[in-house]
Order: sequence, then structure tokens, then C-alpha cells
Amino acid sequence: MACKKWYMGTNTKMYKTIAQTNQFISRLQELTFDIDRSSFELFVIPSFTTLESANRCRKDNLVKLGAQNMGWEEQGQYTGEISPLMLREVGCDLVMVGHSERRHIFMETDEMENKKVRCALDHGFTVLLCIGETEQEKGAGQSNEVLRRQIQLGLAGINEKDTARVWVAYEPVWAIGVNGKPVEIGYADEKLTYIRDCLKMEFGKGGEEIPVFYGGSVNAENALPLSRCKDINGLFIGRSAWDADNFNAIIRAVQDNREKCCLAK
Ligand code: 13P
Repeated sequence: MACKKWYMGTNTKMYKTIAQTNQFISRLQELTFDIDRSSFELFVIPSFTTLESANRCRKDNLVKLGAQNMGWEEQGQYTGEISPLMLREVGCDLVMVGHSERRHIFMETDEMENKKVRCALDHGFTVLLCIGETEQEKGAGQSNEVLRRQIQLGLAGINEKDTARVWVAYEPVWAIGVNGKPVEIGYADEKLTYIRDCLKMEFGKGGEEIPVFYGGSVNAENALPLSRCKDINGLFIGRSAWDADNFNAIIRAVQDNREKCCLAK
């Protein structure tokens, strides 16, 4: 494992209220303030309604704050959408695009994700593009094809300079959420390397530097083995991270191992 910057993040989906999010972020900061942020990035992606107060809870840039979705225009007749200007106003740094629940429950397409990616980059945000194959696609041997398509279409038209603000999360649809099956480490390792190769093919040197995360039923047992995958830069966690103390325990287990590995080099 390379001694590169390591990322840990959580998407709280449609779970935490304003009070719960504030409490979560405050506790997470209290538990992790001592970890050197030059080699470690912590991000939290809560509901839209919590962003403004969550931003006020932030201290010393300990936590990067993200939105779960974004409309691709600054304003207009788009009932129910939230624009980049609105997200900027509440202190967001990061915009997540293409989460599996957006793609599969709300029928978002790669073309829609691409509009959001480009708009978020144009407005100065970091973008977290989520990709992943369904169980059916996996069964049909189409995983690589799907991942390649989601990268090529989702990140189409991005210039090399903007790749410095792109993150990618590999979240196999069949591994996410209460009915998700934990991934086999070897499978995750293989797909993360495939994703890295696709990013290099699309963006050359810029593609080598894009942080790539794994998400989907990450927990206290599999976090460490997953963190040892060759082409991984971080973990993106749902349920196992929603209690700040549990999240911190996972963060510490991975950090301790990384420190040992980096010292050994
Ligand atoms: P779980 O960790 O709960 O499977 O959720 C992962 C996820 O969807 C993060 O975006």
C-alpha cells in the first residue's frame, strides 16, 4: 500500500435530522482532531436540510462537507432541485453524484450524472462520482463494461486540470445497504484496479491521481483488509459509520495499519 493521502467518508442518506447531524459531526471532530489532515481527509455527506448548521459545527477544516445530489443549473424551473449556488451558500465543499440509490430508485442516467459533474466542477466543488454494477450485470459478466461506461460517460468532457477535484467511489449495487452482501476482498481489489486503469486511459497522469474509494457494507471486520487493496485510496461507509464512535474505531484501525506500513518503507 502506498503512503498516499487516505480518505474516510460517510453518506448519511435520508437518516439524520439537523440535531443528529450536528451531534454526529461534533463528536467525530472531537474523536479525530489529532489525526494529521495533510495525509488524511474525513468527509461527511448529510441531508440538504442539515448542511447549513453542519457547516457551522465544523472546526479547523477537520471535516469536508458534501451534498448528496445537485441540480445542474444555477436556477430555473426545476421544482425540487438544489442548485450549485445554493450549496455554495451553505458552505458545501463536495458534491456526490450518481449514488446507486439516485441511479436505481430515481432513474438517473449517465448523461444526467455528467451534467451534474460538469456543473459542480464549473462551480468550484470537488465531485464524488459513484459507480458500480448491479447483481444482474455482475452475473452476466458485464461488470467491467458497466464500470468503464459509467466512467467514460460520467466524466465526459472533463479537462485534465479538473481531474484534481474528482473523486470516484466504487460501490457495487449488490453490496450496498441492509440487503447488501459484503464484497469478497479479491473481487474489490480486481475492480478497483480496473477502475484505476480506466481512469489512466481517460485522463493519463491526471487519472493516476484521482482518489478511488470502496463502499458497500464496509464494517469493522472488512475495513482493514479492504484498505490493503492495491488501488484504493479510501473507504466510503454508510451504516457502520453513522455512530461516530464506531466510525472512529474503523478510522483508527485503518490508520494504525497505514502508519505501520508507511514506517516500514
Ligand atoms: P452501506 O455501508 O450502509 O452499505 O452504504 C454504503 C453507501 O451507500 C455509501 O454511499
